[in-house]
Amino acid sequence: MAIQYLALVTMIVLYSLMFIGGYISAAGLGLTCPEWPLCPSGVLPSEEYFIEWTHRLVAATTGTLVIATMVASIINKNADLKIKITSSLATVFVITQITLGALVIDLKLHAVLVAVHLGVGILLFAMVLLTTLFAFRISRVPVESRV
Ligand code: HEM
Repeated sequence: MAIQYLALVTMIVLYSLMFIGGYISAAGLGLTCPEWPLCPSGVLPSEEYFIEWTHRLVAATTGTLVIATMVASIINKNADLKIKITSSLATVFVITQITLGALVIDLKLHAVLVAVHLGVGILLFAMVLLTTLFAFRISRVPVESRV
């Protein structure tokens, strides 16, 4: 997949994840699935843990997409330093964010951790947004000026 579409899909999936996270928080569903990494129902979804299970599945998908975008930006010959930096920072933030998600559950929704989870999520979104904008700029560079 071209890097700009990979980055765009990553941003859309990440936005959906943050939306689901906000819903979990506002609806008080944060501890419906009290275990980590899997819910008591295991890998498969169950009605009881559905929203939390979805948040984790979409988080795993987001992690994979963010890392794939970083790899794509590193191997792309036309990619400049800026996109390499933003996509690498996004990878650092996504790994931090998934670790924080586990801690949020382990420490039973400690308020500071939930706030940090939101804060890192915003930083992650900012990096993915910048990566997407830079990726679309690469695709608009005329072929002759790339040589
Ligand atoms: C890329 C990964 C992730 C992102 C971007 C993300 C984002 C978010 C966001 C934006 C919220 C709403 C926070 C708020 O409104 O204060 C949230 C809530 C939450 N997230 Fe994540 N999340 C990620 C991964 C995870 C993982 C792996 C877990 C592990 C189980 C997790 C567990 C939770 C929980 C339990 C809440 C609800 C907290 C509460 O009840 O207040 N998150 N997430």
